[in-house]
Amino acid sequence: MRRERADWTRCAADLTGPGFARFQRELASYNAQRFRPGLPEEVPANQIIRDAKIASAEVAFVESLRKAIAPLTSDIPSGVDGFIAWFERLKQSGPGQGDPLFPWLAAHASLEEMIWFLSQEVAGEAGFEDLLAMTQVKVPVQAKLEMARNFWDEMGRGGAKGMHGPMLGRLADHFGIAPTPATVVPESLALGNTMVALATHRRYAFHSVGALGVIEMTAPTRAGYVNEGLRRLGVPAKKRHYFALHAVLDVKHSESWNREVLRSLVAEDPRRAKAIGEGAVVRLWHGARTFESYRQRFGLAKQRPLAA
Ligand SMILES: [Fe+2]
Ligand SMILES: [Fe+2]
Repeated sequence: MRRERADWTRCAADLTGPGFARFQRELASYNAQRFRPGLPEEVPANQIIRDAKIASAEVAFVESLRKAIAPLTSDIPSGVDGFIAWFERLKQSGPGQGDPLFPWLAAHASLEEMIWFLSQEVAGEAGFEDLLAMTQVKVPVQAKLEMARNFWDEMGRGGAKGMHGPMLGRLADHFGIAPTPATVVPESLALGNTMVALATHRRYAFHSVGALGVIEMTAPTRAGYVNEGLRRLGVPAKKRHYFALHAVLDVKHSESWNREVLRSLVAEDPRRAKAIGEGAVVRLWHGARTFESYRQRFGLAKQRPLAA
């Protein structure tokens, strides 16, 4: 425990060095327990001190990310129309967009390779609906209403079968996937950890809005390729429903998010444009790093992404 506490502060800002993997693994393990509903008698006496240390390490981590992506966010417009156009361009030109990993998954990956890919993705998935629920706290009405509609879709509109999280769980169960932080590449853990950090710390609420919005905007293309690959490998439609659904539904989610959430928030306070844009780029930057690490694993490292 003593050694772990030292690492929290030392490794938080380490994005490339030897401390990166360790920090991301420990933070992922912490996050796996963090939001579990509990009872007062279950909590160790020093938990609140530990929480505060980890919270400050998380903030240091996010700040180092903001610094790393600064060259990509120096030209974010603060006017509503200019900002939306900038944001929507990320779909083509943002980090990791057009990555050759996905056409390769669709056309060439073996079943074993696909299962490995899915286990990484399941582990990096921080639970869109909970991130959304945390992000929407105290946001203005127009944005909150759209977030509520999106949340309701995540909840299968009140039906357990249609809930998105368990849908991914059913595919994971089909393949017997049960990833632990030790079996997952640190880049994938870092992506999930960042999403949690943005949604948890209210100073990053607008960053979280941007990160969630850019997921909606960029997920359909990736989901479409994964669905195609799963179909090619003979996975039944029922089991790959999560990817088939997101290849279509998130196109609608993204349009509504940009119109109802982004427009209204930036119109109310133009400073939010920069925060939303940074959150989006941070999310894509992590995605690009995970794709690169997956390509290395699959021996595709020499294929460069179309947009960096
Ligand atoms: Fe979803
Ligand atoms: Fe969605």
